[in-house]
Amino acid sequence: MRVLSVIGARPQFVKAALLSAELSRRGIEEILVHTGQHYDREMSDVFFEELQLPAPKHHLGVGGGGHGAQTGEMLKRLEPVIREEAPDWVLVYGDTNSTLAGALVAAKLHVPVAHVEAGLRSFNRAMPEEINRIVADHVAQLLLVPNEHAGKQLAHEGITSGVRVVGDLMVDLAMLVAAKLPAHPPILDRFRVQPRGYCVATIHRASNTDDRAAFRRLLEGLRGIDRPVVFPVHPRTREIARQEGAGEGDNLILCEPLPYAQMLALLSQSASLFTDSGGLQKEAFVLKIPCVTLREETEWLDTLEDGWNVLAGSDPAKIVDASRRLIPVRQGTPFGDGNAARKIVDALCYGLTATAISVEGPSRKAAVSASSIG
Ligand code: UD1
Repeated sequence: MRVLSVIGARPQFVKAALLSAELSRRGIEEILVHTGQHYDREMSDVFFEELQLPAPKHHLGVGGGGHGAQTGEMLKRLEPVIREEAPDWVLVYGDTNSTLAGALVAAKLHVPVAHVEAGLRSFNRAMPEEINRIVADHVAQLLLVPNEHAGKQLAHEGITSGVRVVGDLMVDLAMLVAAKLPAHPPILDRFRVQPRGYCVATIHRASNTDDRAAFRRLLEGLRGIDRPVVFPVHPRTREIARQEGAGEGDNLILCEPLPYAQMLALLSQSASLFTDSGGLQKEAFVLKIPCVTLREETEWLDTLEDGWNVLAGSDPAKIVDASRRLIPVRQGTPFGDGNAARKIVDALCYGLTATAISVEGPSRKAAVSASSIG
C-alpha cells in the first residue's frame, strides 16, 4: 500500500508526526508532499526537525497569496504529482487550504481520499476553514473522526459510510510530550515568568487578524489581565500587532512562534490560555490548563464540558472575567486512548482489502472497488 500525504501548515506537521512514524513502523510507503503553505523556518522546518518527520519527497513551494491564488496554485502543482505517484490513498489533515487542494485533486483523479479530523464543524461559513472541511468530507471515502460528535455530524449530512472514530493524533502527541516535560522548563526563565504567574495567548484566525476593530478588542482584553501574557506571534498577526503597539508599555511579552515542545512547556506552567487556535484548545485540555477561546464558537465541544474551555469571542470584559475564574475541579477525558495513529493505519489497510468502500449518499452512488485502486 502507498499513501500520499498532503501537508502544508503547522498543525498538519504536528498531526503527521505520529502517523508517519506508524506508517513507517508497519512498512507502508508514505509519499510526503509539502504544499509550502507555511514556509517560514519557525513555522515549518523547525517542526520537521523536532518531530522527526521525513523530508517531503515533493515540495510544491506555494506560499502566501489570497485564498484563490494559493489554492489554485496548489491544485495546479499537486495534480501531476498525484498522477505520477498513483498512490492507493491520498491522506489529508484538518481544514486548511492544503487540505482542500489535496482532497479535490485526488477526487478528480479518482484516487480515494482519507480525511483525518473529519466531521468537525463550527457552523460558521465565514471561516475559510469551515468551507475546506465540508468539501474535504464530502469527497472523502474514509472519514477518520476524532470523536462521536463528529461522526454524528457526518451522519446528519448524509455521510454514513467509511466513517471511523479513531481519536485524535494531536491529543496523543501532546500526552506523550506532556509526560516528559520538566517541572521548571527553561523557557520560563527566558520570559522571566514564574509557574502560574503568567498567561499565554495566540491569535491567528482571519476573523481576528483581518478585522482591526476585533484585534483591538482582543488587545484591550489581554491588557486587562493582571499578569504578564506571553504571546507567540503567528506570521499572519505580525503586522497588525506591530501597528497596534502590542507589547509596548503593557503586560504583553511578544515572541516568535515557538517550537512544539517549547510551546507545550510554556503552556504547562501557565495560569491560563487565551487562543483562537483549534489545536491549542485541545493541548490546554490535556495539560489541564484552563482555556479561553477567542472565538464565538468552537469545533471542540468536548472541551466546553465542565467549563474547562470558555468562549469569549473578542469581548474585552469576557476575556478579563475569564482570566479570573477558578480552575474547574472535574475534567472529562473525551479524547480517545492514545491509539489514533494505529487505528488510522488499520482503517487505511482495511479500506484497501474490503471488496468495496461504499460511498453512499444522495448524490454519491459510486463505489470504489479494491481492484480499481492503485
Ligand atoms: C492556516 C490555516 C488554518 C490553520 C493555520 C495554522 C487556511 C485557510 N488556514 O492559517 O486553518 O489553523 O494555518 O497556523 O488554510 N505566512 C508567513 N509565513 C508562514 C506562513 C504564512 O508569512 O510561514 C503568511 C502568509 O503569507 C499569509 C499569512 O501569513 O500572508 C496567512 O497564511 P495562510 O497560509 O493564509 O494561513 P494561516 O493564517 O497560517
